[in-house]
Amino acid sequence: MKRVYNFSAGPSMLPQSVLEKAAAEMLDYEGSGQSVMEMSHRSKIYGTIIEGAEALLREVMNIPDNYKVLFLQGGASTQFAAIPMNLGTGTGKADFVLTGQWATKAQKEAARYLKSANVVASSKDKTFSYIPKLDPSTFTKDADYFYICMNNTIYGTVFHELPETGDVPLVADISSCILSTPIDVSKFGILYAGAQKNMAPAGLTIVIVREDLIGHAMDICPTMLNFQTHADNGSMFNTPPCYTIYIAKLVLEWIKNEIGGLAKMQEINEKKAGILYSFLDSSSMFKGTVVPEDRSLMNVPFITGSDELDAKFVKEATENDFVNLKGHRSVGGMRASIYNAMPVEGVEKLVQFMKEFEARNS
Ligand SMILES: Cc1ncc(COP(=O)(O)O)c(C=O)c1O
Repeated sequence: MKRVYNFSAGPSMLPQSVLEKAAAEMLDYEGSGQSVMEMSHRSKIYGTIIEGAEALLREVMNIPDNYKVLFLQGGASTQFAAIPMNLGTGTGKADFVLTGQWATKAQKEAARYLKSANVVASSKDKTFSYIPKLDPSTFTKDADYFYICMNNTIYGTVFHELPETGDVPLVADISSCILSTPIDVSKFGILYAGAQKNMAPAGLTIVIVREDLIGHAMDICPTMLNFQTHADNGSMFNTPPCYTIYIAKLVLEWIKNEIGGLAKMQEINEKKAGILYSFLDSSSMFKGTVVPEDRSLMNVPFITGSDELDAKFVKEATENDFVNLKGHRSVGGMRASIYNAMPVEGVEKLVQFMKEFEARNS
């Protein structure tokens, strides 16, 4: 069997033990004589899977009781519209920090439904290579929400400090950092994530929403985008992404039982990122593109400074089973996404390969 080191920004690696368990249970889940793929979502046995996944997510992320966990479809991108339609019925105003393409898409989509989708800060001037400094006195005091993209997958930045939004609910896209470190859920009105980076295969979006923010959707909000619909029906208003939820449950079991929880996960992620960043800081060929204080633990973009050398590196890396290292098409260069399932050994071997490449090409 061949397994490569997959540095894709998403969909991305899953823990090997999760894939093995899924394979072992593929034809007969716990004596039911069925694959999870074949089960009715309303069956008793599937009920244990979705309820188990929610209970584990609540436990691992320490989600307070006054938050609902919704298992949805449509990708993180659907939330760009769902969030303004659910939250924007107070003053119809919201604040946005533009830290990359995903935050910008969210702001543009929200502007279609809100009276004001106000940009409080942006790092576009330097290709989103930093998190802008925020001045709370410039925030809209009566906004319905304040929006950030916590970890910027394409550019490799992360908010290490949260904006001080007072009573205005903070909404964060955590698609590329969910489950990578502990997070204080009580500081947020909504946290949401596409699952395909750190949680499961594509097809599942997790929304963690404070209960008081549910039930105020705009009249034009489609039933399927109304959080109330899914909160009232335990994410079973229609057929949920059953198999993806099952894999998410296995991933959560892996984090809880094999890793030992999110504090431990953070330690491992810091170790991996540390290995890569310290090499980038010492190399005379490879350079990180993000200001050191805003570096992400999950996505590490880097360049050689030569398009030709970048292409040669990506090609040779692929030939050596380090795959998906090409940077996002909008920024070029390289990007190593080192999500939870990437083993430390994968990063160590990548750095060794980079050192050898540097020696061969200097
Ligand atoms: C931070 C972030 N937000 C949103 C998205 C869009 O997610 P989806 O493809 O699930 O709509 C992505 C995808 O890579 C992402 O990285």
